[in-house]
Amino acid sequence: ADVFTYDPGFTSTASCDSTITFIDGAKGELLHRGYPIDQLASKSHYLEVCFLLLYGYLPSAAVLEKFETTITRHTMIHEQMHYFFRGFRRDAHPMATMVGVVGAMSAFYHDSTDIADEMQREIATHRLIAKMPTIAAMAYKYSVGQPFVYPRNDLSYAANFLNMCFAVPAEEYHVDPIVARAMDRIFTLHADHEQNASTSTVRLASSSGANPFACIAAGIACLWGPAHGGANQACLEMLKQIGTPDRIPEYIARAKDKDDPFRLMGFGHRVYKNFDPRATVMKQSADEVLDLLGIEDNPTLQVAKELERQALEDPYFHDKKLFPNVDFYSGIILEAIGFPTSMFTPIFAVSRTVGWVSQWKEMIADPQNKIGRPRQLYLGETERDYVDIENR
Ligand code: CMC
Repeated sequence: ADVFTYDPGFTSTASCDSTITFIDGAKGELLHRGYPIDQLASKSHYLEVCFLLLYGYLPSAAVLEKFETTITRHTMIHEQMHYFFRGFRRDAHPMATMVGVVGAMSAFYHDSTDIADEMQREIATHRLIAKMPTIAAMAYKYSVGQPFVYPRNDLSYAANFLNMCFAVPAEEYHVDPIVARAMDRIFTLHADHEQNASTSTVRLASSSGANPFACIAAGIACLWGPAHGGANQACLEMLKQIGTPDRIPEYIARAKDKDDPFRLMGFGHRVYKNFDPRATVMKQSADEVLDLLGIEDNPTLQVAKELERQALEDPYFHDKKLFPNVDFYSGIILEAIGFPTSMFTPIFAVSRTVGWVSQWKEMIADPQNKIGRPRQLYLGETERDYVDIENR
């Protein structure tokens, strides 16, 4: 008989080797190509981190400028795709629209779907990173019934995204540099996270040789779930449902109750068993952004901080090593910026695109790459004879 290990949820199986991202869950450490996430979040910016993840080194000023120009020049989507958007129900969740539109990029850009051609792989990489904010912003505009806003090449990656989401023809919209910086930091903190569920989905999908747009669409579909990228939306909704600090004990009791499926959203992580370093930066950022925007006494932030304090003092969360994760505070920042909860997960998808693409490129370039094909533990019937319908 075949011999293999049984590992549901892949808690102890390494599916690949990689040189992109390192996580030490016990120490609460996250490194991209060796650089700590807190340094990247404070000193670098999203497109530089994209370059780092994709190519493995910090670029010189000239190389970075060339990369940024390439990305900026690819931000528009084919005009025909606007019609494709209009085929969705007008109240569609932006994630639903994104799964469809990104998958459909393989129909609109089939000149960059040949994965055996290195140049086509590079073009697909640039197209995905450049067009994802445009697609997410259009999905949002469509869901609220506002006209699409074209990308602008004079704005930074984050500022352009904000402009595409919030500008309307009726009045001028100026992107606040503080808000653009906060947006950029959210993109940076979500850029990659080694073999999480959506990245593993992208790798598994592409192991069959499927084209990059189809594979990234699969990643978006996986990210949507509330245990993964959907947690930021679920977390803010939970904080609002709690509403006031006096109701926190009730929710903590529910999270601990084995008979209640409720979990504290934005809490716990498969790998981090000490703290999530991204959450530390995010919490600080939430304070800064609300302060800079003049939002005082935000009730949701108060509930979040008090919930964190009470949970961390509770033996249940302590013993199970459950800490706030990246999604615990991100929703508060996104709401302060003006995004509805339905846009939280699309923003995660925009940010994570570079991680998916970097891992996809690494995998395709690996000569040992073979189709992903897990085994199973069969618990069904043993062999039995077919029974004719009149005899059942
Ligand atoms: N609230 C209450 N109990 C929890 C929670 C939580 N948020 N998370 C885990 N537990 C308990 C769980 O019930 C289990 O208890 P027991 O051992 O008694 O059965 C134990 O902790 C271990 O949980 P698990 O589900 O086996 O752990 P996992 O590694 O499979 O799950 C997780 C990790 C992130 C899916 C989980 O912690 C969770 O559902 N968290 C809430 C959703 C969330 O915030 N997700 C975002 C993750 S970070 C961003 C991203 O990657 O997308």
